[in-house]
Amino acid sequence: MNIVVAGFGTVGQSFAQLLLSHKELLKKAYGLVVKVVAAVDSKGAAVSQRGLDLELVLKYKREHGTVAKVPSAGCEMGLTEVIQGVEADVLVEATHTNLTNGEPGMTHIIKALQLGLNVVTVNKGPLALAMPMLKEMAEHRRLALKFSGTVGGGLPVLAFAKECVKGDRAVKVEGILNGTTNYILTRMEEGLKFEDALAEAQEKGYAERDPTLDISGMDTACKLVILANEVLGKRVTLRDVRVEGITKIKPEDIGMAKSLGKAVRLLGVAEESEVFVKPLAIDQSDPLAVKYNYNAVALTLENSGRHTITGKGAGGRETATAIIRDLISIKERLVMT
Ligand SMILES: NC(=O)c1ccc[n+]([C@@H]2O[C@H](COP(=O)([O-])OP(=O)(O)OC[C@H]3O[C@@H](n4cnc5c(N)ncnc54)[C@H](OP(=O)(O)O)[C@@H]3O)[C@@H](O)[C@H]2O)c1
Repeated sequence: MNIVVAGFGTVGQSFAQLLLSHKELLKKAYGLVVKVVAAVDSKGAAVSQRGLDLELVLKYKREHGTVAKVPSAGCEMGLTEVIQGVEADVLVEATHTNLTNGEPGMTHIIKALQLGLNVVTVNKGPLALAMPMLKEMAEHRRLALKFSGTVGGGLPVLAFAKECVKGDRAVKVEGILNGTTNYILTRMEEGLKFEDALAEAQEKGYAERDPTLDISGMDTACKLVILANEVLGKRVTLRDVRVEGITKIKPEDIGMAKSLGKAVRLLGVAEESEVFVKPLAIDQSDPLAVKYNYNAVALTLENSGRHTITGKGAGGRETATAIIRDLISIKERLVMT
């Protein structure tokens, strides 16, 4: 399987490392032999139709800050030019999330689908803004558009949901979908002020340098859009979500909830009538009341009731594992057709 990787930051590099360390396992267990024919970052690309030496690409990225410096493979081309010039089966989209217009990921995904490439994205921006359109585009061309890593990082939320809805019908999805805000709220429960809890989350590397997307609730809203489309079959985008973040929560609110046996959590909720993100006080015994940087998603089904999945929601290696999971399912699909 020939792959182009767009974005060679935390996730892109973890993905390359995983391909190196799991090469034999992937071949033996799944018959998956991956050849990365191009890797692209903001400054250029490394391209080789014979397959890049990933050790070398990682070394040059580490030492020179860009893949464009890789000897004999490095160049100044952008993704669009690169995918027009190589033979590839899959684009792995791992550039930064942009909720204004989805770029550069939006153009990368559209271009790849137009050129007949399957797409795996961990970048939720394009999906949050235009998921119904992108899904239709992929379906129309009979190509795969996979996005396990966009919700829950390495936690297989979408695969879990897919299994749950077989022979049943999902009526509601609720989730703690952002580890940063959950960490902040848990630490506030333990007595820290909002600012100190945020600073600690940043120190530990959970929060982005600019944590606005997290604390405003927008990151949760993006993931909720993906769940609402994929699990509930709704056709929604970010515009349809009512969003309230955690910046207005006071320590007194958290203390009051605690004294009543409740925990304040930033919840994303999608059901037939509405899709919203809001801090809510839930029972401490609710499986959704996870602590620190954990994620949890509860699915309510018409016949079998409420099922919850919890686990660590983000991280480069965890998210790279989700990419591998998507590649395996594309491989299985290619074999079947
Ligand atoms: N990190 C996580 O735990 C996690 C979990 C789930 C989902 N995600 C999502 O995964 C995506 C990647 O996350 P990350 O943590 O790896 O981000 P990151 O470290 O900031 O990496 C982003 C990469 O995109 C590259 N880039 C920027 N503009 C580009 C362009 N026009 N063409 C090609 N590449 C371009 C950057 O290039 P330079 O290296 O040259 O700056 C960088 O390599 C994001 O959308 C994020 O929301 C991340």
